[in-house]
Amino acid sequence: MISWRKHYKRGLIAIGLLLSTSASIYAQGDAKNGEKLFKANCTACHALDKQMVGPALGGIVEKLKTEQNLDTDWLHKWIKDNKALRESGDKYANEIFAKFNKVEMLPFPNLSDQDINDILEYTTNPPAPEPAADAAAAVDTNSVAALEAAKKDSLNSKIILISLLTIGGLLLWLLLRLRQLVKLQQTDELAGLNATRATSFADLYKKYDYVGKGILALLGILACYGIWNWMMWIGVYKGYKPEQPIHFSHKIHAGDNKIDCQLCHSSAKYGKVSEIPSMNVCMNCHRNISEYKGKYMEPGKDKAFYDAEIQKIYAATGWDPGKQQYTGKTQPVEWVRIHNMPDFVYFNHAQHVVAGEQAIINSHNKKNPNAKIDVVCKACHGQVDTMNVVQMANDFTMGWCIECHRTTEVDMNNGYNKEYFKNLHDKLKKQYPQSEGKITVDAIGGLECGKCHY
Ligand code: HEC
Ligand code: HEC
Ligand code: HEC
Ligand code: HEC
Ligand code: HEC
Ligand code: HEC
Repeated sequence: MISWRKHYKRGLIAIGLLLSTSASIYAQGDAKNGEKLFKANCTACHALDKQMVGPALGGIVEKLKTEQNLDTDWLHKWIKDNKALRESGDKYANEIFAKFNKVEMLPFPNLSDQDINDILEYTTNPPAPEPAADAAAAVDTNSVAALEAAKKDSLNSKIILISLLTIGGLLLWLLLRLRQLVKLQQTDELAGLNATRATSFADLYKKYDYVGKGILALLGILACYGIWNWMMWIGVYKGYKPEQPIHFSHKIHAGDNKIDCQLCHSSAKYGKVSEIPSMNVCMNCHRNISEYKGKYMEPGKDKAFYDAEIQKIYAATGWDPGKQQYTGKTQPVEWVRIHNMPDFVYFNHAQHVVAGEQAIINSHNKKNPNAKIDVVCKACHGQVDTMNVVQMANDFTMGWCIECHRTTEVDMNNGYNKEYFKNLHDKLKKQYPQSEGKITVDAIGGLECGKCHY
């Protein structure tokens, strides 16, 4: 009896200790700050509740404690420099690395111990999201964007409608006019006159031939204009939205799962083009994500549809999910290119995504206080993270480039421009005194033909 009570007490003490250690973990960090750091550094590869490139991190402290008997010290070492930890021969570090197909996690030597505690606090106790406000805001910006798009679209449809109505009206007029002429001919009073006038429809037609031809020519021009307009509208300009070989939803990836644009379009930062990711990039995640478990469904689509689309990745890369190995049989996926400038235009993503990033975000948000953006890409490509199928959000004409260069103030203080425009800035200030020191892109050569044309 006594010994049972002893054990019972020991058990209580042990539980107490456990609780107090976990309580002290909870007390160490600031979850709000952790959330910020997590979003800035980790969401490209991790989510709290599901596996992405790396494992789900919700409750990771508890999980490592109970499953691997590892404490937060290990986590600090891992997060700061996972490679060093692995190379030190740490057993679990090497295990998890192997389990994730040797995909390397980035090291974070810049995060302080406090930062890491904050992140861990966030993974343990994520602050409750504010769904109402968030959803309202999302709906708000979406509906504003949608409204704008609809307004522009309706302008296009109006042009087409007016063209069609004009053509229809002219046809009707022509018809009535001809009927009138034919009728005219049939009345008795005119019978006499008819001797001197046209007596048959053919004569009449001959007489009015030039009018008819003129009208026909006019109709032809109008029809061409209408068709041209319509083709420009659906095929070349804004709103172009082709079906892709795999139904890849940006809303599900970049929106719901908050995957950073540059995780997939990584070359945007470095070069002229921003490229569609190769299928290997998809496999970083989809080796482990073989089915769709999200709640969100597009109208008319279900889980089976999404699962079948994910299978196409395996078909394309020759991955056998049953055997967990590549068969060597691959099929290229031919994505339909949506944005495509003519060959004589030079457009460089790095110039805009790196040097121009802050300037473009600031200027966009000043002009669109109701549809603010957080990622520079959206200034030109629209709210891609709400699109299930990407479509062109702007018309991508020369006028569009120039308009933005005229109105966007260059950030002369960022690292790139400070270096590049050291002397130019003062010269420009003198040259454009009326600008009060504000320098827009046109002032640094953004309207020079040679900058955008080969
Ligand atoms: C470039 C992608 C990438 C980024 C960014 C990244 N991780 Fe990871 N992380 C991984 C991968 C992949 C693994 C699985 C182990 C491996 O393959 O190295 C992992 C594993 C982990 C683990 C071990 C989880 C377990 O179940 O044992 C922790 C903890 C972790 N990451 C924390 C973080 C934190 C915190 C951040 C942000 C500061 C971060 N990671 C950013 C890719 C990433
Ligand atoms: C998980 C990978 C992934 C992420 C993350 C991602 N994309 Fe994409 N993106 C793709 C793929 C695949 C395509 C080609 C299929 C298509 O057009 O939907 C594409 C196409 C595009 C296109 C059209 C390219 C063309 O053909 O002209 C644009 C623009 C684009 N993405 C912008 C973005 C932006 C902006 C973000 C961030 C909000 C983003 N993407 C995030 C994979 C990704
Ligand atoms: C960073 C991780 C990641 C990458 C990279 C990634 N995906 Fe996904 N993918 C996901 C997640 C997460 C889901 C949603 C799974 C869920 O909610 O259960 C998903 C869902 C899907 C789906 C079903 C929903 C939809 O969008 O139609 C398809 C298809 C898909 N991915 C294709 C691709 C293709 C193609 C690529 C490469 C261009 C790719 N994915 C790259 C994480 C990724
Ligand atoms: C200043 C406007 C602008 C910004 C900002 C911008 N893009 Fe683009 N993007 C364009 C133009 C213009 C094209 C067409 C380029 C061409 O056809 O040569 C394009 C094309 C693309 C393509 C198609 C492939 C290619 O490179 O032609 C993808 C993918 C893309 N952009 C993704 C992104 C992503 C991701 C970001 C943010 C990191 C981004 N863009 C930021 C204007 C922009
Ligand atoms: C959303 C606004 C925006 C749009 C749209 C835009 N640009 Fe720019 N562009 C900028 C900014 C800002 C810079 C200056 C970046 C810097 O700080 O160096 C820039 C710089 C440039 C430069 C370098 C100019 C120089 O003298 O160094 C070129 C070339 C250029 N853009 C081409 C284009 C083309 C081509 C298009 C259309 C397809 C385009 N841009 C559309 C904002 C834009
Ligand atoms: C900021 C970049 C930029 C600058 C500066 C620029 N252009 Fe363009 N230009 C473009 C783009 C982008 C297109 C392609 C538009 C399209 O495909 O609709 C284009 C198209 C053209 C075309 C083909 C006709 C057309 O409208 O499609 C001509 C001609 C042209 N530009 C001449 C010039 C001349 C001359 C200058 C100097 C005064 C100049 N451009 C300066 C970006 C620029």
